[in-house]
Amino acid sequence: MTTSFFSMVALLLPQVVVGLTVQTRQVALPGTWGAQGCFTDVSSSRTLLGSSTAGADMTIEKCLAFCDTGGFGFAGVEFGSECYCDHAPQDSGLPVELSECNVPCAGDATEFCGAGNRLNLIWDGSALPTITLAVDTWQYTGCFSDSINPRTLPHNIATADGKVTVESCTTACNANGFAVAGVEFGTECWCSNSLPTAPALADEKCRMACVANTTEFCGGSGALMVYQDTAGQLCLSSTRAGDFNLEAVFVDAPETGPASVPLHVIMVNTIIKLSWSILSTASGVFTSEELTAGGLLPKSTSQPQFRTTSLPLVSGGSPTFATSQFPPPAAAAYCVMNNPQLGPSGPQVLAGNSRSDLFALCPNTTANGRVDVVFDPVLNHPHYTKANCQSVYLAFVAV
Ligand SMILES: *[C@@H]1O[C@H](CO)[C@@H](O)[C@H](O)[C@H]1NC(C)=O
Ligand SMILES: *[C@@H]1O[C@H](CO)[C@@H](O)[C@H](O)[C@H]1NC(C)=O
Repeated sequence: MTTSFFSMVALLLPQVVVGLTVQTRQVALPGTWGAQGCFTDVSSSRTLLGSSTAGADMTIEKCLAFCDTGGFGFAGVEFGSECYCDHAPQDSGLPVELSECNVPCAGDATEFCGAGNRLNLIWDGSALPTITLAVDTWQYTGCFSDSINPRTLPHNIATADGKVTVESCTTACNANGFAVAGVEFGTECWCSNSLPTAPALADEKCRMACVANTTEFCGGSGALMVYQDTAGQLCLSSTRAGDFNLEAVFVDAPETGPASVPLHVIMVNTIIKLSWSILSTASGVFTSEELTAGGLLPKSTSQPQFRTTSLPLVSGGSPTFATSQFPPPAAAAYCVMNNPQLGPSGPQVLAGNSRSDLFALCPNTTANGRVDVVFDPVLNHPHYTKANCQSVYLAFVAV
């Protein structure tokens, strides 16, 4: 699955044997530290990312002591006065001729300390971190590219003890109802119920150790190591063929009365040429809905010249839509999931923010008790009392 640093080292053996002998004197490296050769390094994509220091007194010995204290197995001296450390080198560092590392160390002119964009790489021989392939029912699915907008996995979740490892992140995603987890940049935990659509990367792009467990990798810079809970629920699609209506099916069916209630999109506020609508059990003017690329698009027969698009779904609020002649792009907040109670054999349901199990019906106190759909009801909301909300899932009904 991954090219280990050991195979990289094998390619470098001739240089390793020569070691630092092209220097003005042979440096006896302390302990188990061994010279690995001269490598490229650029400031935008560091070869060693774990920690760094610099000083006019820099020597190889000072850099090794600094990295040793930080518990790092790799050290590198660069441009005379810089020192970098990590648990594994990033694959952006490429081996070059040892003679390119030819700048004397600022603190001892008889030693060489790399050069501009050139790093003398030194390794203490300790084991590199590894890719954790499975934790309980969670399986590693690969290294994927991530960006700040959009996020590959949208939910940034805090782990129970604040420390991010593959184990703590998958546990935290599971506790928050997610079946996809991702660790990134050594310290970040992200969750979703959709598998990433961002490009897959080589495992070598996910070579940053978890800060909280340096024996395992935790993604990279802009690179997520993604895990899927094989026992969990995933978004099956963000598009559904054909128009539909929705009904709220009670999670705990009442002893008397219907087990489900038809839903409609109803207008709640209008200013000139712009209206807001929400999902409710009251009857409305929209006759059907469409799900395209995660956007929910209610359709009105009375105002076909206006388009209605879904707004971002927020915890505590009703699914909200805007109608305008110039509508905003539909927020891709929705997807299709298997029915959480019936599984793949039952009719599929709508999920919001990749959760199908957070919708509720709540009597809206600012609208004379009208029963509206709320996503993830919260305490102390001005429009409803959370204790009066009933959990539902939103089932598709063919039109
Ligand atoms: C640290 O990582 C190793 C290797 O994946 C794993 O076996 C161990 O359980 C992890 N420890 C913690 C505390 O997460
Ligand atoms: C409650 O009703 C008001 C007025 O119709 C509406 O604006 C609001 O979105 C509703 N609140 C919820 C949480 O559904």
